[in-house]
Amino acid sequence: MDHFLYRDGELYAEDVPVADIAAAVGTPFYLYSTATLTRHFQLFDDALDGMEHMVCYAMKAASNQAILKTLADLGAGMDVVSGGEYARAKAAGVPGDRIVFSGVGKTRSEIRAALEGGIRQFNVESEPELFVISEIAESLGKTAPITVRVNPDVDAKTHAKIATGKSENKFGIPIAKARAVYAEAATLPGIDVIGIDVHIGSQLTDLAPYELAYLKVAELTEQLRADGHDIRRLDLGGGLGIPYTRSNEAPPLPSDYGALIKRTLGHLDCEIEIEPGRLIAGNAGILVSRVIYVKEGEGRNFLILDGAMNDLIRPAMYDAHHDIVPVVEPVPGAEQQPYDIVGPVCESGDTFARNRMMPPLQAGDLVAFRSAGAYGAVMASEYNTRPLVPEVLAKGDQFAVIRERPDFDEIINRDTIPPWL
Ligand code: LLP
Repeated sequence: MDHFLYRDGELYAEDVPVADIAAAVGTPFYLYSTATLTRHFQLFDDALDGMEHMVCYAMKAASNQAILKTLADLGAGMDVVSGGEYARAKAAGVPGDRIVFSGVGKTRSEIRAALEGGIRQFNVESEPELFVISEIAESLGKTAPITVRVNPDVDAKTHAKIATGKSENKFGIPIAKARAVYAEAATLPGIDVIGIDVHIGSQLTDLAPYELAYLKVAELTEQLRADGHDIRRLDLGGGLGIPYTRSNEAPPLPSDYGALIKRTLGHLDCEIEIEPGRLIAGNAGILVSRVIYVKEGEGRNFLILDGAMNDLIRPAMYDAHHDIVPVVEPVPGAEQQPYDIVGPVCESGDTFARNRMMPPLQAGDLVAFRSAGAYGAVMASEYNTRPLVPEVLAKGDQFAVIRERPDFDEIINRDTIPPWL
């Protein structure tokens, strides 16, 4: 459920007409709903009710500080994967003890910054990383709380580019090697082993792979405790999928997921951490774009938008489907016709949809890409020297620009021409 609904014949974001925002901000732009962000966070928080837990939002999904603050004010922690994300979370006011540092290639300077600024835990992905964290922590006179990310060799049954829990993936330590790595970790002076981490992939639409992975984590918890480790926190990753179409998709609900966690891991009396990104932000954001031209091709019509693959890369990169809806509500039973919906970037990959049935549209009409809140704005680039599109946050009848559209000078002046040229 989200808060982008038609009312009186036009699309609203909560209580604000999307067309009003377009008139004020220009197109294209990303638009988020505070109520949807809040609702989705709350669903996870409620799903884990009764267990000690923290929902650490995977901020890679959408990392504007206004979004981070909205969630942090509700009690969310943050899952970060870079020094930049760590700094951004801190800038948004998230305390260090609510920030989890994940990621397969943390650099020395990133590790140092997190130890100095405060960190809830590092999710360690390799033995060399473990040694480096210990060494830096020791040099700072600190001990670093860590979990080891184990790779359970489970097929998440999702798109190959976003599956992470198979042994061929670059992530984590093979679960079969885990006991040896924990034994090693326990000897390191700068390390405090507190738990286990697992994350098997993104856009999971079936709970079965989670169940397989979590049963393995439960077994490992008992083995590690028998080995003398004080395993007290389990980070179960993110990845719960969302419906990308209005029609027939019905991925599991956070409440089903919470019940699964309780059933598989509840008896261990560990603090539970989860790292959802997409389910919190995905359907809390749309990309609003305007039709520049309608072009009649041979046997097909092209809808040429002012938004492009640099603004929303998911269709080009993962063949992802996004529902695209007109901002003016089509009258019931309105005729529909097929369009190839494309952007202005100079490559054929800049195609959002082929043969998409839409009501007739004209130059100047507004459309909205639904489910674009996660991995939309954050994956945008300035390809073709197209400015990053602004981000807007709606709340009730208010809206605010939370990231401005840069002007061309800001972009161009980042280049430096060497004095010898
Ligand atoms: N935790 C870790 C360690 C992760 O690597 C990820 C996502 C998450 C949590 C959050 O997963 P989520 O709940 O959002 O599924 N750009 C791709 C998705 C990449 C996901 C990467 N890792 C896309 O647009 O589909």
